Parts: sequence; structure tokens; C-alpha cells
Amino acid sequence: MKLNLKNLNKSFNDKPVLKNINLELADFHSLAIIGPSGGGKSTLLRILAGLQKPSQGEVLINGIKLASNEKDLNEYRKTLGVVFQSYNLFPHLTALENIVLPMVHAHNYNEKNAVQRAKELLRGFQLDEHEDKKPHQLSGGQMQRVAIARALAIDSKFLLLDEPTSALDPELTSEVLAMINKLEEQQKDLILVTHEMGFARQSCDYIVFIADGQVLEHGQSANIFCSPQTPELKNFLNKILEWR
Ligand SMILES: Nc1ncnc2c1ncn2[C@@H]1O[C@H](COP(=O)(O)OP(=O)(O)OP(=O)(O)O)[C@@H](O)[C@H]1O
Ligand SMILES: [Mg+2]
Repeated sequence: MKLNLKNLNKSFNDKPVLKNINLELADFHSLAIIGPSGGGKSTLLRILAGLQKPSQGEVLINGIKLASNEKDLNEYRKTLGVVFQSYNLFPHLTALENIVLPMVHAHNYNEKNAVQRAKELLRGFQLDEHEDKKPHQLSGGQMQRVAIARALAIDSKFLLLDEPTSALDPELTSEVLAMINKLEEQQKDLILVTHEMGFARQSCDYIVFIADGQVLEHGQSANIFCSPQTPELKNFLNKILEWR
């Protein structure tokens, strides 16, 4: 897929969080956004998801400019699968309903097919015995897997994932990463914010490093990890790899 950011700015209460980002990525399947906490990664992902609007600038995805009016943004959002740091599951619905209802109501799936597809996904995530539980009855890892299953349930153009493994223990982290890797092998386009550097390095073909609201480096993952150029990226990688 292609991603083009032109003079992208985002401020909250006059505090700049994304600072004039210009970026043109021509051909990637899986993009990892990495960088220190508070740098603006989630804000950028939410803009790409059409959930927040830039203060200034433009976003083009696969050559198409992101809409600024609510109606078109709403249509655009329906074409994506998104998984965010906080799970955003509907608290009053069961795990199964959380997957099925959006399929039926927002994406016009027939209910029987939606239930079948949702059950397949839940089984794939070892969640079949939890399908009738509501979010407050699930562990963090289980909720995250439901959220990922929900994002995969629709035929999305691409996936946006914000730290999909942040609430998971190491074993489940590996499972979820293996799953994302499988999607990548199937050439599913995705953009992912992650602190899992091993995964970003091995599994994502392109990396964008964001710190303090700016893109300080970007490139093929092999280059980024083997020869970081800026002191900020060197420092970040040293810190994050120190205990691994
Ligand atoms: N809705 C908001 N209102 C005000 N400030 C916000 C809002 N969303 C984010 N921010 C601020 O913007 C900055 C960037 O936040 P963001 O969530 O994008 O960082 P991040 O890189 O995803 O960090 P982390 O790795 O901790 O998730 C932070 O200083 C945050 O406090
Ligand atoms: Mg974040």
C-alpha cells in the first residue's frame, strides 16, 4: 500500500503533538511505527483510522485523500479493521456479539454467516469457551484477542493495530504476533504501532520512527535496525533492547 503525509500537524489545546510530518511511502505491506511513549504514534494511527482529524495537512492512503467531512469519514472507517490499545469492546455485549453485531449492522453481513465467521475466529484464538462472556468477565488478553478477531472479521482494505499485544503475557504475545505474521504472509496490508522490536524487525517490511511528534527516521526494517542514523533512534533501540 501507499501512504503519503503532507505537512501533517495535530495539536491538542494548542500543544503540538504531530509537528509538520512529511512522509511518502510508496510500496509496503506491513509498516511498523515505533518510538518513545508520548511521541505521537497513537495520534497518527487514529488520524489514519479517520477517528481524529489533523489540525493541518493532508493524508493520502493509496493515493486517495482522507475525507474531512463526517459522512465520508464514516464510510471510510467501515473499510478498515482497527485494534486499539484500549479494547473498545461494547461492555454490554458478549464476545460473540461484539464481533457479530458490527458485521451485521455496519457491514451488511447476513447474520448466519456473521455468526459462523465469528465463531471460526474465536476458535482460532482459543476463545470458543468464552464467546458468551461480556468484556468485564474476560481477562485483558482475552479482550484483546476478541478485539483482534473483530477487526479480522470484516473484509477490510487494511488493518491498523495499536500495540495489539500490550496487554498480553509472553505466550499470548507470541501467538498474536504469529497470527499477525500469518496475515502479512497472506499479503494483508497493515500498519502497526508496536514496542515489540524483534517482531518489527523480522516481520514488518518498513519502519517509521516517531519521537516528539516528528518522523526522525524511516526506511526498510533491515536498514533501520542495522544502521540507525539519529542519536534518538540509537538511544531508543539501546534502551528498549537492554533487557532482552
Ligand atoms: N485527546 C487528547 N487530548 C489531549 N492530549 C492528547 C490527546 N491524545 C493524545 N494527547 C497527547 O499527545 C501526545 C502523544 O500521545 P500519543 O498517544 O499519540 O503517544 P504514543 O506515542 O502513542 O505513546 P505511547 O507509546 O505511550 O502509547 C501525548 O503527550 C498525549 O498526552
Ligand atoms: Mg500509543
